[in-house]
Amino acid sequence: MGSGIAQICATKGLDVLINDRSADLLDRSMQSIRKSLQRLTQKGSLSKETADEALGRIRTETSLEGLRHADFVIEAVVEDEAIKRNIFQTLDKVTSVHTILASNTSSISITKLGAATSKPHRVIGMHFMNPVPLMKLVELARGQHTSGQTFEACKGLAEFLGKDVATSQDRPGFLVNRVLIPMINEAFFCLMEGVGSAEDIDKGMRLGTNQPMGPLRLADFIGLDTCLSIMKVLHNGLGDSKYRPCPLLQSYVDAGWVGQKAGKGVYQYD
Ligand code: CAA
Repeated sequence: MGSGIAQICATKGLDVLINDRSADLLDRSMQSIRKSLQRLTQKGSLSKETADEALGRIRTETSLEGLRHADFVIEAVVEDEAIKRNIFQTLDKVTSVHTILASNTSSISITKLGAATSKPHRVIGMHFMNPVPLMKLVELARGQHTSGQTFEACKGLAEFLGKDVATSQDRPGFLVNRVLIPMINEAFFCLMEGVGSAEDIDKGMRLGTNQPMGPLRLADFIGLDTCLSIMKVLHNGLGDSKYRPCPLLQSYVDAGWVGQKAGKGVYQYD
């Protein structure tokens, strides 16, 4: 998701610095941006010149120190609260008092991430949807401390990037995943109980409710590990047994069948 976010920012003329743990991960990120830009130019929705200029605006960096001059940071690491808190603590130290620190988290409390910093009024949730270059929505979530100024700046950036904004309270899963991930979890229960085959569950939802992908294929696309961790956040945070993760979803993740990125999830990918 970080690559997609970097791509749309650079396409709109912003200077972008992508930070990741290793040169190898950064190479993979740049590769995925090149591939996505190529798809867009082939389709005619982006000129070759704009794509080349966008690539020229992206720099890469393996140290968080490199972000010290950033005006706006969008964190998009794995959905793990401890890791995110750690990164926010470091960002707090290396960035200026004016820098906005946004998290692309899909479910973790913005208030908690803000509390890990000395400037929680400048911390906000800015949740993009996958694939970032194509999906219209950005979900904004304000923590307890987030200032109105930070919210307006973030909304302005999202709109500048061509996105529509939906605003959520800082609650587990915010709006989109609070609705979407239990639907996916329910599809796993249907599969586990043999209510229908994976193909029929997906076909039913695709053709019956006009969704571009059925819930099980979408789960493979999002990553079953991500779906499971969001389900756990909903279960822990809301305390209602209706959010209990489906044992089959847990079992696929335990087996390493985490979806498209692993070559296998509910479906097989070659
Ligand atoms: N960059 C640029 N172009 C891309 C792209 C990318 N990353 N991915 C797909 N495309 C383009 C393709 O080139 C293709 O273009 P043409 O129509 O000109 O051929 C077009 O998009 C359609 O792609 P595909 O033919 O490969 O496949 P598709 O028709 O199934 O569309 C999809 C792919 C856009 C992903 C569509 O299936 C879809 O909208 N799926 C639902 C996605 C969704 O629900 N996302 C939200 C997930 S939830 C989330 O992100 C939140 C979270 O926290 C978990």
